[in-house]
Amino acid sequence: MERTKITALIAADRSPGSVLIKGWVRTRRDSKTFSFIELNDGSCLKNIQVIADDSLPDYEEVKKLSTGSAVVIKGKMVESEGGGQKWEIRADEVEIISIAPDTYPLQKKRHTDEYLRTIAHLRPRSNKYGAAFRIRSELSWAIHKFFKEKEFRYIHTPIITGSDCEGAGEMFRVTSLPLDNLPRKEGKTDFSADFFGKEANLTVSGQLSAEMFALSLGDVYTFGPTFRAENSNTSRHAAEFWMLEPEMAFCDLTGNMDLGEELIRYLTRYVLDNCTEDMELFARFVDKNLMATLENIVRGDFVRLPYTEAVEILQKSKKKFEYPVTYGKDLQSEHERYLTEDHFKKPVILYNYPKEIKPFYMRVNEDGKTVAAMDVLVPGIGEIIGGSQREERLEILESRMEEGGLNKEEYWWYLDSRRYGSVPHSGFGMGFERFIMLVTGIRNIRDVIPFPRTPNSIEF
Ligand code: 4AD
Ligand code: MG
Repeated sequence: MERTKITALIAADRSPGSVLIKGWVRTRRDSKTFSFIELNDGSCLKNIQVIADDSLPDYEEVKKLSTGSAVVIKGKMVESEGGGQKWEIRADEVEIISIAPDTYPLQKKRHTDEYLRTIAHLRPRSNKYGAAFRIRSELSWAIHKFFKEKEFRYIHTPIITGSDCEGAGEMFRVTSLPLDNLPRKEGKTDFSADFFGKEANLTVSGQLSAEMFALSLGDVYTFGPTFRAENSNTSRHAAEFWMLEPEMAFCDLTGNMDLGEELIRYLTRYVLDNCTEDMELFARFVDKNLMATLENIVRGDFVRLPYTEAVEILQKSKKKFEYPVTYGKDLQSEHERYLTEDHFKKPVILYNYPKEIKPFYMRVNEDGKTVAAMDVLVPGIGEIIGGSQREERLEILESRMEEGGLNKEEYWWYLDSRRYGSVPHSGFGMGFERFIMLVTGIRNIRDVIPFPRTPNSIEF
């Protein structure tokens, strides 16, 4: 007999008769003549209730089934007499695969997120984390669906790179050199002896590679892990996180903003429509305002506001900020959140930032002072998207690189794209974990990524 997943059983209109199910015991209760087993197989939030009668040949064994134990059960699916569920399984055979001893750390009581982080290898077996990671999986598919429908091509940009996309130097080095005996030349480490014959790092963004493909295939996106060695121990930063980066040829900043807005709406609607059961858990137990926040995102337009106007609003506000707001400085998360949560109460796209606080590749505006950058800010999170129209004019790009202290020779291939067939083009990066935080109401990035990497933490 073929195994049926519990999600299919629960959704069934009529009983298929006999079924074979495999899963883990969430709880077991005994009555006089039978035992109730709540079984979960990870395919959905709900458990299926199994009734094991004391007439079963292995009933004494069934009574040993503890929380966390694994079983295979054959039985008949019948309409449940008890409330709370439509179907239940009357067991004909219970095969015990393994018994979990009572040291199993996930007993029925509710655990804190902090405690569950210490058992990140087991937490996906809990309701909340199971739901979060099913949603993470669904959202990955939705991203590909969105871009497929728009005829974007999916590019696998490299993880190991020889250049620093953001020019911020917050990179993890990749090397095969012996760290306790580094080859030296002229007082420095000699990277010509290293694996690639030059310095190499883990990528902070696939953008520069994606640009080359946008200028070849038109509309493209890359979606994969990125790495940042920034020592910011916040609830929104991870050293390893996933970034989604679309890049479009013949597209300006407005087109870029339009795509960012459409993407966020599409993905939000997608989880509301396709992850209903898991989303209910978050709306009930994690954030009571979740559905209102998400409906607001799906329905209304995003505010679009130049950086300068945002600074004015922040300076005029009565709110006491930890960091003062001055023109020419990057906004802090408290400022971003004030704008989206308190002032506008909806997503905000800030654009045209001073060029001094943005990377070399952003297009310089007519005013000569600002660049065609855009950040999308959402309630509860702050910045979720960062992007720009790219500088397509060779001379200006070169002078921006000089200002930023970048070595032009190393970016020769990037500059080639501005020599040959350069066109206006734009793109952005969306933090995938931050998006999952937005739709689940989970407020710590460590709780939406299977095994988080943050400063001083790499246990699993
Ligand atoms: O704003 P960022 O740094 O933009 C770029 O890297 C561009 N090269 C992207 C592009 O235009 N193709 O990062 C983009 C987004 C941020 O808005 C944020 O959501 C997320 O990536 N992000 C992080 N998420 C988790 N942990 C971190 N340390 C993150 N750093 C950025
Ligand atoms: Mg940014």
